[in-house]
Amino acid sequence: MTAAHHSLVTRRVRFDLSRTPLHWIPHDPDASYVTNSIHLLLPAGEFWFCRVYNKALPYVTNPTLREDVQGFVRQEAIHARSHETALNAYLRRHGVEIDSVLRVANFVFGQLLEERPVKLGQGFLARRLEKRLKKWQLRQQLAIIAAVEHYTCVLGKWVIEADALDAPNVDPDLRDLFRWHGAEEVEHRCVAHDLHAHLGGTTLERQAWALIGFPLLLGLLSYSSVHMMKQDPAVGGSFFFARWERASRRGTLPTLESLFGAALRYLNPGYHPAGEASLQEALDYFAKSPAVQAALARERERQAA
Ligand SMILES: [Fe+2]
Ligand SMILES: [Fe+2]
Repeated sequence: MTAAHHSLVTRRVRFDLSRTPLHWIPHDPDASYVTNSIHLLLPAGEFWFCRVYNKALPYVTNPTLREDVQGFVRQEAIHARSHETALNAYLRRHGVEIDSVLRVANFVFGQLLEERPVKLGQGFLARRLEKRLKKWQLRQQLAIIAAVEHYTCVLGKWVIEADALDAPNVDPDLRDLFRWHGAEEVEHRCVAHDLHAHLGGTTLERQAWALIGFPLLLGLLSYSSVHMMKQDPAVGGSFFFARWERASRRGTLPTLESLFGAALRYLNPGYHPAGEASLQEALDYFAKSPAVQAALARERERQAA
């Protein structure tokens, strides 16, 4: 938690992607597919975050952190639903085969990272050990989420700031969806780290899971992007990371060096996400986001009725 506490806001945004082209960043299918991979990977991941956090909530004794965790869950659930809607209304409408990627995402977040049942017996010591093992597993899940949330904050900050995405022919609806999501990632960037630490999690646990999690995330992103790129004759056959590098020079993806630098920052024992981005920058984006402003207007109307 930061010194001046900011209460997380639930913004019930809606997006209409019925006019959004598949290459939503024009003349840049590479960046369009890498960003569109987010729609495939995030819903399974963010719903998993919510399940883990609901299990962790009874252990949270600090009322401010408890409020943060509840706010985090509400925001992540809306993120997941917004991207899931995009899957059906947008990627499927463009005829992209996405089921194989969804199967992998569901396996990773629905099976691989789920809690393993622990049954040691009925004796007092066995039950005590079971309880400790369950809590240990929960702490490891929280450490994984903290590592992923570092990158969602890094990417969130990047997407708000990326000047290349301000070009007038970039699809405004999808740009707003990614920037609203990115801004909320910046807004709640401290929750995962603070929750893991609050439940007794150590820096070493967070570092160890980051070393496993970062390559896994990059692997998932490249698999998902390449899967969609292969279906599109407009995309050339060059190596995935070479394409990424070219897009980053155009400013439509973050540079690979910046992502590597973010990994090194996370491994620093003094790391805390408060220093990764500015809350004010996120709040400034909400003030100009069409979807957020429309959601606030609906909320005002609802309260006035
Ligand atoms: Fe999110
Ligand atoms: Fe998040």
